[in-house]
Amino acid sequence: MNILLLNGPNLNMLGQREPDKYGTQTLQNIVDDLSAQAKSSDATLTHFQSNAEHALIDRIHQSMGNIDAIIINPAAFTHTSVALRDALLSVNIPFIEVHLSNVHARESFRHHSYFSDVAAGVIVGLGAIGYSLALTAAINLPQSKN
Ligand code: DQA
Repeated sequence: MNILLLNGPNLNMLGQREPDKYGTQTLQNIVDDLSAQAKSSDATLTHFQSNAEHALIDRIHQSMGNIDAIIINPAAFTHTSVALRDALLSVNIPFIEVHLSNVHARESFRHHSYFSDVAAGVIVGLGAIGYSLALTAAINLPQSKN
């Protein structure tokens, strides 16, 4: 089973970026932990982070036919990007939306997501462990079993 982890803008700054909200782990720490978890479940994890909307869209398009499930933290694009939503719908791959912080307890512009209503599930506010929970869920998605 092949899983794609996508991280959107500014998540390359994790560890230094507003640690009170996003924790002290770097993105590399998170990806390393997730890769080890995937390996122990006989899954393959591919990671891609970009600050550019088009790069994330292109990576989603490239997933067609070779990725079983996507875990995505769209970061600020969560609240703005119809294009990224449409890209996920276009490839018809189940995806899980993750946010480190509890977006519902923050500014009102963070309360709306362009992804949640079409996601297989959403994990919000649990910090880096949310990615691990998403991976467990992704591996067990009924559509992902092959
Ligand atoms: C975030 C929440 C977003 O509102 C914010 O723009 C981010 C990170 C999170 O993981 O909590 O960049 O997606």
